[in-house]
Amino acid sequence: MRKAGQPLTNSRILNWKELSFPTEWSEVFGRSCPLDVEIGFGDGRFLFQIALAYPDRNFLGIELAWQFVRKADRKLQEAAIENVRLLQLDAFIALACLFPDDSIDRIYSNFPDPWPKSRHEKRRLFNREFVEILCSKLKIGGKVYIATDNADFRNFVIENFSQFDEFVSAFENGFREGLPQSYPLTKYAEKWLKLNRKLYFLEFELKRKPSKRFVCPIERSKTMPHVFLKGEVDLLKAFSDFQTIEQKADGIVVKLGPIFVRPDGREALVEAHTVDWRLTQRIFIRIKRKSEDTWLVKLDHIGHPVVTKSVKTAVKLIAQAIASKADIEITSDRTGLE
Ligand SMILES: C[S@@+](CC[C@H](N)C(=O)[O-])C[C@H]1O[C@@H](n2cnc3c(N)ncnc32)[C@H](O)[C@@H]1O
Repeated sequence: MRKAGQPLTNSRILNWKELSFPTEWSEVFGRSCPLDVEIGFGDGRFLFQIALAYPDRNFLGIELAWQFVRKADRKLQEAAIENVRLLQLDAFIALACLFPDDSIDRIYSNFPDPWPKSRHEKRRLFNREFVEILCSKLKIGGKVYIATDNADFRNFVIENFSQFDEFVSAFENGFREGLPQSYPLTKYAEKWLKLNRKLYFLEFELKRKPSKRFVCPIERSKTMPHVFLKGEVDLLKAFSDFQTIEQKADGIVVKLGPIFVRPDGREALVEAHTVDWRLTQRIFIRIKRKSEDTWLVKLDHIGHPVVTKSVKTAVKLIAQAIASKADIEITSDRTGLE
């Protein structure tokens, strides 16, 4: 057993920011075989058991909470389970952007958070948009298995799947009571069973290709956006009265500020928050004097940002803000925006 403090030498955790949109999963796993996904794996005990039971399948676990990802990783390493990889990411983003169409064989989701308030419907897994994504990403004959203790959530899921005639339920009324016999129990399954709560099991199969494909709503680029400017500017003066800049358009949000200017006025760092669809990032843009009259505005590597449309827009907006305040003009715009 690994002692506390010892490094994880063979981690199963993937850095999703290093993966392509979409990812060729057989390359990540180093072998080509069926690909199964568990969403919201919690402490990882279900993933652990199905991965052991099916050594000839690849398993990808997606979970938002970092402490669970770490815990599952440790258990998988200690048991030398090789056919699992883990991602700390919102399942909406993971499924929409990291998977090619027709690439997933099975999807498991055990006791997903029901988010009972109607204003939180957007957060619920298996809302209409999520089912639309699944339609594109599952293979024909691919299956979705969902366990829940919440009857309202169960009905919500059945209603959403019923809107896609590509999917067929394994059960006449959309669900069965109780989990299948061989289904490994999760932490929540055990908790609810102890309390004698009713459990519901849902199973849907994708019968045919969807008429319309879901396109990843996050536009991603590989190059770091930057802009060159020529002229004179004192950043301290230019940004002395800086107000937050906010722009909302075409599904993106950019909010710029505050700005930290170095006391000599020759360099500055701008903090920004950006949103592309469901991806929110906190990024930094550096303004730097390159020579007597040349300035560079560039996305900084701090936080390893994913270069998206909103990130490129943030860089451009800062360059434009400088150009509007001093005797300086943009000479080269390498943001990749129109
Ligand atoms: C109620 S717990 C169930 C955990 C585990 N499946 C079980 O049955 O014991 C729901 C889990 O889903 C994760 N989760 C919630 N929303 C998610 C999302 N959008 N993407 C990935 N994981 C999510 C949560 O962090 C949490 O660990």
